[in-house]
Amino acid sequence: MDYTPKTFTIPTLDGISEESVKQHIGLYQGYVKNFNAIAAKLVEYAKEGTEKNAVALGELIRRKSFEFDGMRLHELYFEQFEGGTKALDENSELGKSFAAEYHGYFVEYFKAIANMRGPGWAMLYYDPIGTQFQAGFAGEQHQGHFVTLPVILALDVWEHTFILDYGAAGKGKYIDAFFKNLNWSVVEKRFAAVAK
Ligand SMILES: [Fe+2]
Repeated sequence: MDYTPKTFTIPTLDGISEESVKQHIGLYQGYVKNFNAIAAKLVEYAKEGTEKNAVALGELIRRKSFEFDGMRLHELYFEQFEGGTKALDENSELGKSFAAEYHGYFVEYFKAIANMRGPGWAMLYYDPIGTQFQAGFAGEQHQGHFVTLPVILALDVWEHTFILDYGAAGKGKYIDAFFKNLNWSVVEKRFAAVAK
């Protein structure tokens, strides 16, 4: 069954232009479209004979998760702007856990991760087994990804996120703008759902 692109209610953002958001959503829709096309082609190959189509099937299987993760990560990303800016509630479970684990340096630390060279995603995961956060960076959307952990904060730092508004050297300004517009209550809800 095909996936349908989600629609997002994104308010006017401070430091990220409407045109940039519009183009970015177009890229997200491309991931959904490509994923659906690959999934359909794989069914075709399987029906025709896996031996006959072994090479093509192998290539598409590799691309399948790339397109899927591109789709799902952008959904996590855009949802974080919905409802408008909201500060982290220090009395929420997330706020208390951050205070215990990151002692007030989380945002600066996460910004440094996001500012690493190369296209990809800065992500905050939560490990419910080890009961601790894991902050990381996935090159593109797979290299270095913690595949077993749920993502509670996803910051896209591919060049398409900042080049229109800030130019090729503008990643840092875009990252600041991301945090300016972040609705932390979305992150608090994700954390509450996985930290039981
Ligand atoms: Fe993106």
